[in-house]
Amino acid sequence: MPVDILVGTQWGDEGKGKLIDVLTGDVDMVVRFQGGNNAGHTVEIGSERYVLHLVPSGIFRPGVRCVIGNGLVVDPIALVEELEGIRARGIAADNLELSDRAQLIFIYHKRADALNEKGAVRKIGTTGRGIGPAYCDKMRRSGIRGCDLCKPEILSAKFRAEAARYNKIFAEAGAELIDIEKELALVLEAAAKLAPLVRNTAYTIAQAVKEGKKILCEGAQGGLLDVDHGTYPFVTSSNTISGGACTGAGIPPTAVRNVYGVIKAYTTRVGEGPFPTELFDADGELLRARGREFGATTGRPRRCGWFDAVASRYSCMLSGVNKLVVTKLDVLDEFDEIAVCTAYEIDGVRTTEFPAAVEDLEKVKPVYEMMPGWKTALDAVTSADQLPENARKYLARMAELIGADIEIISVGPRRDQTFKA
Ligand code: GDP
Ligand code: IMO
Ligand code: MG
Repeated sequence: MPVDILVGTQWGDEGKGKLIDVLTGDVDMVVRFQGGNNAGHTVEIGSERYVLHLVPSGIFRPGVRCVIGNGLVVDPIALVEELEGIRARGIAADNLELSDRAQLIFIYHKRADALNEKGAVRKIGTTGRGIGPAYCDKMRRSGIRGCDLCKPEILSAKFRAEAARYNKIFAEAGAELIDIEKELALVLEAAAKLAPLVRNTAYTIAQAVKEGKKILCEGAQGGLLDVDHGTYPFVTSSNTISGGACTGAGIPPTAVRNVYGVIKAYTTRVGEGPFPTELFDADGELLRARGREFGATTGRPRRCGWFDAVASRYSCMLSGVNKLVVTKLDVLDEFDEIAVCTAYEIDGVRTTEFPAAVEDLEKVKPVYEMMPGWKTALDAVTSADQLPENARKYLARMAELIGADIEIISVGPRRDQTFKA
């Protein structure tokens, strides 16, 4: 069973890109299975820093096949730009394929995304990349897909029809209309560049599974942004939990071996929505400053708070995480005391279950347990036995509360700031 899945276990930005890059040292294939260019995955190699949005984070390892699976929503123009940007920095980025079944994002999806936000009673705080509208079109069965990139006439006809449909919606809303022919020309230009990458990727993956190759699936966002299980409606529009890899890449559950769950040693969230352990004080500021918590896609400041064991345990349970990866432990270096949320109190009732209703989540009073800090710089630590005792205790408590073993610890953005637990 050669397939491993790596997912974020919080509200995204846990350090998935870094870990994928680290783990692909001995992997044959990296597969993205959901989301789109709402993701921003940072990989630091030496003094170079790359932020990937659609391209799998295995792209820096020559010989690693990278696959953009059927479950994604792909903006073809953004993908071409991303590839050209990487290539301009000397990375070949030639070992990539794009699913013929991936849904495509166009300008009208981005405009609709903005319009939805503008008209919403409570906005979601989306990344504005057209993710929700593109997934809506997939479900209403009017989406345009990877296979259409290879047939300019079919692509043009479908684009014209869909753009005209959206223009009616925009006209009714008094919003700016799409210049259909101008936009189509840009789409066709990108399509010509991407067509050679289009494949039936389910077969590529099935063949690799058959040959016993090692495959790593790269989740985007995090479990608490999952459209079914997250803080709905303040979620993204895809299944971010590990199960999403089966549908979003065409991988049978029987082929899956391990699930890595990446978890920050504290919690962050970008955009709107409930966040029980959010901090609005100097501690929150310190987390943001030390953790450089600004969005890799939109540059927005990330909301910061303490580690929430209720939320993370729920997310790890849903994904079946058997290997925890704790990142950004070094960000906690300066705290005298560190709080851990072990339960929620809602209307005076204590629970350790993660509620469905946003209205309940917004009422949560976190029940905190205080742990002593270690007040030691961890960024140069290279093995678990060098960790101060209080850091070890903190990690042990995280693992105990989540109910999974920690496999890997990260104490900085670089590849070499990573070690086995
Ligand atoms: P992703 O979306 O899960 O791939 O995460 P992002 O790239 O959006 O955000 C994680 C940020 O933290 C990036 O800037 C990483 O370079 C950085 N990072 C990753 N691991 C660590 C770590 O252990 N310590 C510190 N200080 N930074 C880290
Ligand atoms: P990575 O893969 C953090 C959030 C947005 C918003 C909500 C819906 O880098 O961890 P969308 O544009 O998807 O419709 O926005 O989801 N969001 C993310 N937050 N990390 C991400 O990706 C995110 N992708 C989407 O901020 O709250
Ligand atoms: Mg990110």
